Amino acid sequence: MKQQATIFFHSELDDPQAWQATLQAALPQLCFITGPKCDAPEEVDIALLWTQPPQGLQAFTGLRAVLSLGAGVDQLRLDALPPGEPVARLIDQTLTQRMVEYCQATTLYFHRHLHLHASQQARQQWYFIPPVNASARRVLVLGLGELGSAVAKALARQGFDVSGWSRTAKLVPGFVCLQGEVALQKALGGCDILINLLPLTAQTRGLLDHRLFEWLKTGACLVQVGRGGHLVEDDLLEALADGRLGGAFLDVFAVEPLPADHPFWAHPQLRLTPHVALLSDPVQSAAMVIENIRRTVQGQPLLHAIKRASGY
Ligand code: NAP
Ligand code: GLV
Repeated sequence: MKQQATIFFHSELDDPQAWQATLQAALPQLCFITGPKCDAPEEVDIALLWTQPPQGLQAFTGLRAVLSLGAGVDQLRLDALPPGEPVARLIDQTLTQRMVEYCQATTLYFHRHLHLHASQQARQQWYFIPPVNASARRVLVLGLGELGSAVAKALARQGFDVSGWSRTAKLVPGFVCLQGEVALQKALGGCDILINLLPLTAQTRGLLDHRLFEWLKTGACLVQVGRGGHLVEDDLLEALADGRLGGAFLDVFAVEPLPADHPFWAHPQLRLTPHVALLSDPVQSAAMVIENIRRTVQGQPLLHAIKRASGY
Protein backbone atom coordinates (compact mmCIF):
# COMPACT_ATOMS: atom_id res chain seq x y z
CA MET A 1 0.00 0.00 0.00
CA LYS A 2 1.41 3.40 -0.98
CA GLN A 3 1.81 6.00 1.80
CA GLN A 4 0.03 8.75 -0.17
CA ALA A 5 -3.67 7.97 -0.62
CA THR A 6 -5.89 8.86 -3.56
CA ILE A 7 -9.47 9.55 -2.62
CA PHE A 8 -12.48 9.60 -4.92
CA PHE A 9 -15.38 11.78 -3.70
CA HIS A 10 -18.95 11.55 -4.96
CA SER A 11 -22.09 13.11 -3.51
CA GLU A 12 -25.10 14.94 -4.89
CA LEU A 13 -25.58 16.62 -1.51
CA ASP A 14 -22.18 17.42 0.01
CA ASP A 15 -19.79 20.19 -1.03
CA PRO A 16 -16.64 18.62 -2.58
CA GLN A 17 -14.56 21.80 -2.20
CA ALA A 18 -15.25 22.06 1.52
CA TRP A 19 -14.37 18.37 2.00
CA GLN A 20 -11.24 18.67 -0.14
CA ALA A 21 -10.01 21.74 1.78
CA THR A 22 -10.64 20.14 5.17
CA LEU A 23 -9.07 16.78 4.30
CA GLN A 24 -6.02 18.26 2.57
CA ALA A 25 -5.43 20.67 5.46
CA ALA A 26 -4.95 17.58 7.67
CA LEU A 27 -3.36 15.34 5.02
CA PRO A 28 -1.44 17.58 2.56
CA GLN A 29 -0.25 14.56 0.49
CA LEU A 30 -3.81 13.42 -0.18
CA CYS A 31 -4.82 13.29 -3.84
CA PHE A 32 -8.52 14.25 -4.08
CA ILE A 33 -10.63 13.44 -7.15
CA THR A 34 -14.13 14.90 -7.37
CA GLY A 35 -16.62 12.60 -9.10
CA PRO A 36 -18.70 11.47 -10.77
CA LYS A 37 -16.03 11.24 -13.50
CA CYS A 38 -12.73 9.51 -12.74
CA ASP A 39 -10.01 9.21 -15.41
CA ALA A 40 -7.80 6.74 -13.54
CA PRO A 41 -10.10 4.66 -11.32
CA GLU A 42 -7.41 2.01 -10.78
CA GLU A 43 -5.35 4.65 -8.89
CA VAL A 44 -8.05 5.22 -6.26
CA ASP A 45 -7.48 3.83 -2.74
CA ILE A 46 -10.56 5.15 -0.94
CA ALA A 47 -14.05 6.12 -2.08
CA LEU A 48 -15.77 8.79 0.06
CA LEU A 49 -19.39 8.64 -1.04
CA TRP A 50 -22.97 9.58 -0.31
CA THR A 51 -24.06 7.43 -3.26
CA GLN A 52 -22.14 5.46 -5.85
CA PRO A 53 -21.28 7.30 -9.08
CA PRO A 54 -23.54 6.30 -12.03
CA GLN A 55 -20.80 4.10 -13.53
CA GLY A 56 -20.41 2.15 -10.25
CA LEU A 57 -17.05 1.23 -8.75
CA GLN A 58 -16.16 -1.92 -10.70
CA ALA A 59 -13.29 -0.14 -12.49
CA PHE A 60 -11.79 0.95 -9.13
CA THR A 61 -9.59 -2.12 -8.98
CA GLY A 62 -7.19 -0.81 -6.30
CA LEU A 63 -9.94 0.23 -3.88
CA ARG A 64 -9.12 -0.45 -0.19
CA ALA A 65 -12.06 1.17 1.61
CA VAL A 66 -15.47 2.78 1.11
CA LEU A 67 -16.34 5.59 3.53
CA SER A 68 -19.96 6.70 3.74
CA LEU A 69 -20.72 10.41 4.02
CA GLY A 70 -23.71 9.41 6.16
CA ALA A 71 -24.44 7.43 9.30
CA GLY A 72 -26.63 5.25 7.08
CA VAL A 73 -25.25 3.08 4.28
CA ASP A 74 -28.34 1.86 2.36
CA GLN A 75 -27.94 4.70 -0.17
CA LEU A 76 -24.58 3.16 -1.20
CA ARG A 77 -26.37 0.10 -2.62
CA LEU A 78 -24.11 -2.35 -0.79
CA ASP A 79 -24.93 -5.22 -3.15
CA ALA A 80 -23.46 -3.28 -6.07
CA LEU A 81 -20.21 -2.38 -4.28
CA PRO A 82 -17.09 -4.43 -5.02
CA PRO A 83 -17.23 -7.39 -2.60
CA GLY A 84 -14.79 -7.63 0.25
CA GLU A 85 -13.87 -3.96 0.65
CA PRO A 86 -14.54 -2.60 4.15
CA VAL A 87 -17.34 -0.01 4.39
CA ALA A 88 -17.46 2.50 7.25
CA ARG A 89 -20.24 4.85 8.40
CA LEU A 90 -19.82 8.46 9.46
CA ILE A 91 -20.27 8.59 13.22
CA ASP A 92 -19.42 11.57 15.34
CA GLN A 93 -20.62 12.80 18.72
CA THR A 94 -21.61 16.21 17.38
CA LEU A 95 -23.71 14.61 14.66
CA THR A 96 -25.33 12.23 17.14
CA GLN A 97 -26.18 15.25 19.31
CA ARG A 98 -27.93 16.83 16.29
CA MET A 99 -30.15 13.77 15.99
CA VAL A 100 -30.81 13.79 19.73
CA GLU A 101 -31.91 17.44 19.54
CA TYR A 102 -34.22 16.76 16.59
CA CYS A 103 -35.90 13.86 18.41
CA GLN A 104 -36.18 15.85 21.64
CA ALA A 105 -37.75 18.79 19.78
CA THR A 106 -40.27 16.63 17.93
CA THR A 107 -41.11 14.54 21.01
CA LEU A 108 -41.74 17.71 23.01
CA TYR A 109 -43.86 19.05 20.14
CA PHE A 110 -46.27 16.13 20.46
CA HIS A 111 -45.89 15.80 24.25
CA ARG A 112 -46.95 19.44 24.80
CA HIS A 113 -49.87 19.03 22.34
CA LEU A 114 -48.47 21.59 19.91
CA HIS A 115 -49.91 19.57 17.00
CA LEU A 116 -53.37 19.83 18.55
CA HIS A 117 -52.96 23.55 19.25
CA ALA A 118 -51.87 24.08 15.63
CA SER A 119 -55.14 22.56 14.43
CA GLN A 120 -57.08 24.70 16.96
CA GLN A 121 -55.36 27.80 15.58
CA ALA A 122 -56.40 26.86 12.05
CA ARG A 123 -60.04 26.81 13.30
CA GLN A 124 -59.64 29.89 15.57
CA GLN A 125 -60.51 27.75 18.61
CA TRP A 126 -59.45 28.69 22.15
CA TYR A 127 -59.50 25.91 24.71
CA PHE A 128 -57.13 24.22 27.12
CA ILE A 129 -55.80 20.71 26.78
CA PRO A 130 -54.70 19.36 30.18
CA PRO A 131 -50.93 18.69 30.22
CA VAL A 132 -49.56 15.19 30.79
CA ASN A 133 -46.42 14.55 32.86
CA ALA A 134 -43.42 13.32 30.88
CA SER A 135 -43.26 10.28 33.17
CA ALA A 136 -46.71 9.25 31.91
CA ARG A 137 -45.71 9.61 28.27
CA ARG A 138 -44.51 6.38 26.69
CA VAL A 139 -41.90 6.79 23.97
CA LEU A 140 -40.77 3.81 21.90
CA VAL A 141 -37.53 4.07 19.90
CA LEU A 142 -37.11 1.59 17.02
CA GLY A 143 -33.38 0.90 16.64
CA LEU A 144 -30.92 1.14 19.51
CA GLY A 145 -27.68 1.77 17.64
CA GLU A 146 -25.41 4.82 17.81
CA LEU A 147 -28.32 7.19 17.24
CA GLY A 148 -31.31 5.34 18.70
CA SER A 149 -29.59 4.58 22.00
CA ALA A 150 -28.41 8.21 22.38
CA VAL A 151 -31.97 9.42 21.68
CA ALA A 152 -33.51 6.91 24.10
CA LYS A 153 -31.03 7.87 26.86
CA ALA A 154 -31.63 11.61 26.37
CA LEU A 155 -35.43 11.22 26.47
CA ALA A 156 -35.22 8.97 29.55
CA ARG A 157 -33.08 11.66 31.25
CA GLN A 158 -35.82 14.17 30.40
CA GLY A 159 -38.27 12.04 32.36
CA PHE A 160 -40.14 10.21 29.57
CA ASP A 161 -41.11 6.56 30.01
CA VAL A 162 -38.82 5.17 27.30
CA SER A 163 -38.40 1.76 25.77
CA GLY A 164 -36.37 0.73 22.74
CA TRP A 165 -36.49 -2.08 20.23
CA SER A 166 -33.51 -3.74 18.56
CA ARG A 167 -32.61 -6.97 16.81
CA THR A 168 -30.33 -8.35 19.54
CA ALA A 169 -30.80 -8.22 23.32
CA LYS A 170 -29.44 -5.22 25.23
CA LEU A 171 -29.26 -4.04 28.80
CA VAL A 172 -29.04 -0.25 29.03
CA PRO A 173 -29.65 1.61 32.30
CA GLY A 174 -32.55 4.10 32.07
CA PHE A 175 -34.86 2.39 29.63
CA VAL A 176 -36.30 -1.00 28.74
CA CYS A 177 -34.85 -2.83 25.73
CA LEU A 178 -37.12 -5.12 23.73
CA GLN A 179 -36.64 -7.63 20.94
CA GLY A 180 -38.93 -9.61 18.69
CA GLU A 181 -42.31 -9.03 17.11
CA VAL A 182 -44.40 -10.04 20.13
CA ALA A 183 -42.65 -7.50 22.37
CA LEU A 184 -42.94 -4.87 19.61
CA GLN A 185 -46.68 -5.38 19.24
CA LYS A 186 -47.19 -5.14 23.02
CA ALA A 187 -45.07 -1.99 23.32
CA LEU A 188 -46.87 -0.31 20.40
CA GLY A 189 -50.19 -0.86 22.18
CA GLY A 190 -49.08 1.44 25.00
CA CYS A 191 -46.94 3.84 22.99
CA ASP A 192 -47.68 7.60 22.78
CA ILE A 193 -44.74 8.65 20.62
CA LEU A 194 -42.96 6.30 18.21
CA ILE A 195 -39.50 7.24 16.92
CA ASN A 196 -38.06 5.30 13.98
CA LEU A 197 -34.26 5.12 13.94
CA LEU A 198 -33.76 1.79 12.19
CA PRO A 199 -31.38 1.24 9.28
CA LEU A 200 -33.03 0.40 5.96
CA THR A 201 -32.48 -3.31 5.23
CA ALA A 202 -34.46 -6.11 3.61
CA GLN A 203 -35.91 -6.87 7.08
CA THR A 204 -36.93 -3.29 7.97
CA ARG A 205 -38.21 -2.01 4.60
CA GLY A 206 -41.91 -1.21 4.85
CA LEU A 207 -42.05 -1.88 8.61
CA LEU A 208 -44.12 1.28 9.22
CA ASP A 209 -47.18 -0.11 7.52
CA HIS A 210 -50.88 -0.76 8.05
CA ARG A 211 -50.20 -3.70 10.39
CA LEU A 212 -47.87 -1.69 12.65
CA PHE A 213 -50.29 1.25 12.74
CA GLU A 214 -53.06 -1.18 13.73
CA TRP A 215 -50.94 -2.26 16.71
CA LEU A 216 -50.32 1.34 17.82
CA LYS A 217 -52.27 2.97 20.64
CA THR A 218 -54.99 5.15 19.12
CA GLY A 219 -53.84 8.75 18.69
CA ALA A 220 -50.10 7.99 19.01
CA CYS A 221 -47.67 10.19 17.05
CA LEU A 222 -44.77 9.21 14.81
CA VAL A 223 -41.29 10.72 14.42
CA GLN A 224 -39.85 9.25 11.21
CA VAL A 225 -36.09 9.85 10.98
CA GLY A 226 -34.87 6.49 9.66
CA ARG A 227 -35.26 6.20 5.89
CA GLY A 228 -38.18 6.84 3.55
CA GLY A 229 -38.25 3.14 2.59
CA HIS A 230 -39.40 2.21 6.11
CA LEU A 231 -42.77 3.90 5.62
CA VAL A 232 -45.68 2.74 3.48
CA GLU A 233 -46.96 6.21 2.65
CA ASP A 234 -50.55 5.28 1.75
CA ASP A 235 -50.86 3.35 5.03
CA LEU A 236 -49.71 6.46 6.95
CA LEU A 237 -52.37 8.59 5.23
CA GLU A 238 -55.00 5.97 6.06
CA ALA A 239 -53.88 5.78 9.73
CA LEU A 240 -54.11 9.58 10.01
CA ALA A 241 -57.54 9.60 8.38
CA ASP A 242 -58.99 6.95 10.72
CA GLY A 243 -57.48 8.57 13.84
CA ARG A 244 -55.13 5.73 14.68
CA LEU A 245 -52.24 8.16 14.27
CA GLY A 246 -52.54 11.60 15.84
CA GLY A 247 -49.81 13.20 13.76
CA ALA A 248 -46.35 12.66 12.36
CA PHE A 249 -43.09 14.50 11.94
CA LEU A 250 -41.37 13.21 8.79
CA ASP A 251 -37.73 13.93 7.92
CA VAL A 252 -37.11 11.20 5.33
CA PHE A 253 -39.12 10.20 2.27
CA ALA A 254 -39.28 7.49 -0.38
CA VAL A 255 -38.45 10.14 -3.01
CA GLU A 256 -36.26 13.09 -2.01
CA PRO A 257 -36.75 15.95 -2.61
CA LEU A 258 -40.44 15.30 -1.98
CA PRO A 259 -42.29 15.80 -5.32
CA ALA A 260 -44.27 19.06 -5.58
CA ASP A 261 -47.61 17.28 -6.01
CA HIS A 262 -47.13 14.91 -3.06
CA PRO A 263 -50.14 14.76 -0.67
CA PHE A 264 -47.86 15.07 2.39
CA TRP A 265 -47.05 18.75 1.67
CA ALA A 266 -50.46 20.13 2.56
CA HIS A 267 -51.59 17.51 5.07
CA PRO A 268 -52.67 19.30 8.26
CA GLN A 269 -51.45 16.50 10.57
CA LEU A 270 -47.99 16.25 9.05
CA ARG A 271 -44.88 18.30 9.78
CA LEU A 272 -42.12 17.85 7.20
CA THR A 273 -38.40 18.62 7.27
CA PRO A 274 -36.06 18.06 4.29
CA HIS A 275 -33.82 15.27 5.66
CA VAL A 276 -32.04 17.54 8.10
CA ALA A 277 -32.32 15.68 11.41
CA LEU A 278 -28.61 14.94 11.22
CA LEU A 279 -26.82 16.94 8.56
CA SER A 280 -23.13 16.17 8.35
CA ASP A 281 -20.50 18.69 7.28
CA PRO A 282 -16.72 18.48 6.98
CA VAL A 283 -16.02 20.93 9.80
CA GLN A 284 -17.84 18.74 12.32
CA SER A 285 -17.27 15.30 10.92
CA ALA A 286 -13.91 15.19 9.09
CA ALA A 287 -11.95 13.86 12.09
CA MET A 288 -13.38 10.35 11.74
CA VAL A 289 -12.86 10.34 7.96
CA ILE A 290 -9.25 11.49 8.41
CA GLU A 291 -8.66 8.73 10.96
CA ASN A 292 -10.12 6.14 8.57
CA ILE A 293 -7.91 7.41 5.73
CA ARG A 294 -4.88 7.02 8.03
CA ARG A 295 -6.04 3.54 9.01
CA THR A 296 -6.49 2.51 5.38
CA VAL A 297 -2.99 3.70 4.49
CA GLN A 298 -1.55 1.80 7.48
CA GLY A 299 -3.61 -1.33 6.76
CA GLN A 300 -5.56 -1.12 10.05
CA PRO A 301 -9.27 -1.91 10.55
CA LEU A 302 -11.67 1.00 9.96
CA LEU A 303 -13.59 2.73 12.73
CA HIS A 304 -17.36 2.12 12.54
CA ALA A 305 -17.07 -0.52 9.84
CA ILE A 306 -20.39 -2.16 9.03
CA LYS A 307 -21.10 -5.87 8.72
CA ARG A 308 -21.84 -6.05 5.02
CA ALA A 309 -23.95 -9.20 5.32
CA SER A 310 -26.36 -7.53 7.79
CA GLY A 311 -26.72 -4.37 5.67
CA TYR A 312 -25.94 -1.94 8.52
P1 NAP B 1 -26.83 1.52 13.93
O1 NAP B 1 -25.83 1.95 14.94
O2 NAP B 1 -26.37 0.63 12.82
O3 NAP B 1 -28.03 0.83 14.74
C1 NAP B 1 -29.10 0.23 14.11
C2 NAP B 1 -30.06 -0.32 15.17
O4 NAP B 1 -31.19 -0.89 14.52
C3 NAP B 1 -29.43 -1.41 16.02
O5 NAP B 1 -29.84 -1.29 17.36
C4 NAP B 1 -29.99 -2.68 15.41
O6 NAP B 1 -30.12 -3.77 16.32
C5 NAP B 1 -31.37 -2.22 15.00
N1 NAP B 1 -31.91 -3.09 13.96
C6 NAP B 1 -31.42 -3.36 12.74
N2 NAP B 1 -32.20 -4.22 12.08
C7 NAP B 1 -33.22 -4.51 12.91
C8 NAP B 1 -34.35 -5.35 12.81
N3 NAP B 1 -34.58 -6.09 11.72
N4 NAP B 1 -35.19 -5.41 13.87
C9 NAP B 1 -34.97 -4.70 15.00
N5 NAP B 1 -33.89 -3.88 15.14
C10 NAP B 1 -33.04 -3.79 14.12
O7 NAP B 1 -27.52 2.77 13.23
P2 NAP B 1 -27.60 4.30 13.74
O8 NAP B 1 -26.27 4.94 13.61
O9 NAP B 1 -28.27 4.33 15.06
O10 NAP B 1 -28.53 4.92 12.60
C11 NAP B 1 -29.82 4.39 12.36
C12 NAP B 1 -30.36 4.91 11.05
O11 NAP B 1 -30.73 6.28 11.17
C13 NAP B 1 -29.40 4.93 9.86
O12 NAP B 1 -29.22 3.64 9.33
C14 NAP B 1 -30.11 5.85 8.91
O13 NAP B 1 -31.05 5.12 8.16
C15 NAP B 1 -30.87 6.81 9.84
N6 NAP B 1 -30.31 8.17 9.80
C16 NAP B 1 -31.14 9.21 9.49
C17 NAP B 1 -30.63 10.49 9.47
C18 NAP B 1 -31.51 11.68 9.17
O14 NAP B 1 -30.96 12.79 9.01
N7 NAP B 1 -32.80 11.54 9.14
C19 NAP B 1 -29.30 10.72 9.75
C20 NAP B 1 -28.49 9.64 10.07
C21 NAP B 1 -29.00 8.35 10.09
P3 NAP B 1 -28.80 -4.44 16.98
O15 NAP B 1 -28.26 -3.38 17.92
O16 NAP B 1 -29.34 -5.60 17.69
O17 NAP B 1 -27.87 -4.75 15.87
C1 GLV C 1 -28.19 10.83 6.81
O1 GLV C 1 -29.29 10.49 6.52
C2 GLV C 1 -27.16 9.94 7.22
O2 GLV C 1 -27.27 8.73 6.94
O3 GLV C 1 -26.19 10.42 7.84
